[in-house]
Amino acid sequence: MIDFSVDVFPDHEALSRHAAELLSLWAGQAVKARGRFLWALSGGGTPERLYRLLAEPPFSDAVPWSACHLFWGDERLVPPSAAGSNYGQVKTTLLDRVPVPASQVHRIRGELPPEEAAADYARELGGYGSPSRPWPRFDLALMGLGSDGHTASLFPGPPGSEEQIQPTLAVTGEYAGRPARRVTLTPAVFNDSRLLLFLVTGEAKAEAVARVLEAAPDSRSALPAARLWPTAGAITWLLDEAAATALSGQDLARHR
Ligand code: 6PG
Repeated sequence: MIDFSVDVFPDHEALSRHAAELLSLWAGQAVKARGRFLWALSGGGTPERLYRLLAEPPFSDAVPWSACHLFWGDERLVPPSAAGSNYGQVKTTLLDRVPVPASQVHRIRGELPPEEAAADYARELGGYGSPSRPWPRFDLALMGLGSDGHTASLFPGPPGSEEQIQPTLAVTGEYAGRPARRVTLTPAVFNDSRLLLFLVTGEAKAEAVARVLEAAPDSRSALPAARLWPTAGAITWLLDEAAATALSGQDLARHR
């Protein structure tokens, strides 16, 4: 049995504060146990409040920034300074305000052509892996969810077999007018994480949340978020009330 939980909060603010508390706790525990905190971040509007909270007291003082290593779960292929860059979002909301050493910030190089950016990031990840696992075992991977069921840049549709073997993929995915060419980590990497932490808010996501959480985890599912189930870690979903409206507690208990 893996550690699975779904927590529902009154609103985005309460959810973000809880996420900040959880993150500073996990970061502290990881650094105590292993000397560093390996964190994969997500893009999108949902985590932005979390990033801003982490840059302010009490979290800015509580997180062991000098031992944090930041990676991204996915990136839109635009230059780092462009609107739409996931790295750029974190730089302005968080990194410009907290002391993470620059050598520990591992961005996906969105300015490169797709295949090159994916290969470059795979090499970077390899530096944190082992011969049997050429990628880091993330202490925490932050995940979002699209109303179409995508997560990171894993978009709906039958998965290719390469996502169980390769750490990164160059993909194209249209969503909300955002840059479509992207690089994403694969389930092979996400499912090695110690904690997968989903943050989902808003009524527009309610149906997707119910479809994912009421499905059994399945590496062949056309619904990307249903392919994520850590092999030896925990998975936590933080929802606001609006995102939880289509869920039935009974279904959760039955399938998980
Ligand atoms: C990205 C993301 C993506 C995001 C969802 C939800 O780079 O776009 O990592 O998977 O988490 O699209 O986005 P919102 O939080 O804006 O709804």
